[in-house]
Amino acid sequence: MIVAANSENIARAAELVLGGEVVAFPTETVYGLGANAFDATAIDKIYQIKGRPANNPLIVHLPSVSEIHLVADLEANPTIVERLALLESFWPGPLTVILPKLQVIPDIVTAGRASVAVRIPSHPIAQALLQRAAVPIAAPSANRSSYISATSANHVAKDFGDNVALILDGGDSPIGIESTVISIIEAVPIIYRHGYVTKSELEHALGMAIDELAQGSGVALPSPGMLAQHYSPNTPLKLIESVDFGSLPNRVALIQITPSSLTKTQHLFSEIRVLSAAGNLNEAARRLYSTLRELDCGGFDLIVVEGKLDNQLGRALKDRLTRAQLPIG
Ligand code: TXA
Ligand code: MG
Repeated sequence: MIVAANSENIARAAELVLGGEVVAFPTETVYGLGANAFDATAIDKIYQIKGRPANNPLIVHLPSVSEIHLVADLEANPTIVERLALLESFWPGPLTVILPKLQVIPDIVTAGRASVAVRIPSHPIAQALLQRAAVPIAAPSANRSSYISATSANHVAKDFGDNVALILDGGDSPIGIESTVISIIEAVPIIYRHGYVTKSELEHALGMAIDELAQGSGVALPSPGMLAQHYSPNTPLKLIESVDFGSLPNRVALIQITPSSLTKTQHLFSEIRVLSAAGNLNEAARRLYSTLRELDCGGFDLIVVEGKLDNQLGRALKDRLTRAQLPIG
């Protein structure tokens, strides 16, 4: 059920969390599907509701850095403590940091890993819920596993209906794309997922070069969220750099990240959407998932996304769209 995110309903959501239920709430990136991170039975419900593979760990959300010691083992880890301090300026905000896990966090939260992903969201409703519940809330994105993430309460309701006890409506997520995931455990920190915070911002803050996970890298995937198939609409999707082909299927929708000339190819598309007429990638990110979800219900044979996405936030968009274009297994 979708409810207004007033203080009464936030209190109700917090009580549901403490009672072992799953609730959906807005964050600045995308909506989350949350449960008490200390309650293994409640966490199991998240995996069931999402249809999430058991090997894909969840992010634990906290209201502030002062709660990190409740979930992460920072003792005897001076390098990690030092790096963490350098990353604090991104919090509250769209950054997730992988840290050594404390025993109290049930294995199901981290899919059996010795590490835990920690994020401090800035969204006022997420903050209010975390403070009211006063327990860490483990929350993946509030979408069916491998489908497009949810950036509004309606997206969540469409995916889960009454399977979620309560959906706090906080309007559209202001960023619209997931947090950046970085591990600072290894000798060289690694970006596990590109997101709103860019690699160069992280390198600047840490004062060192960082690695990134090779795309589609083999079996022992350190971060299963990097699985090739993800964020996929049901309609086949193709990401291209420029619209210069001769023929296409019957009903094709075109998403342009930013506007480009279509003089020769306009007639090939039944529908054209421009994510940011002003050429602003932040605006494009904010509108990407809702546009994909909408067009996915439009009965198209193909969705073509056009964009040159190599820098900064473009990396995160390209990462999502590259995974979205593979067929769902
Ligand atoms: O913006 C976000 O991060 C949103 C909001 C709700 O906070 N959450 C989100 O969660 O995107 P989810 O579950 O859709 O993605 C979590 C990512 C996955 O790629 C997962 O594999 C990775 O984080 N992850 C979580 N814990 C990990 C761990 N211990 N080691 C490696 N990767 C981890
Ligand atoms: Mg997700």
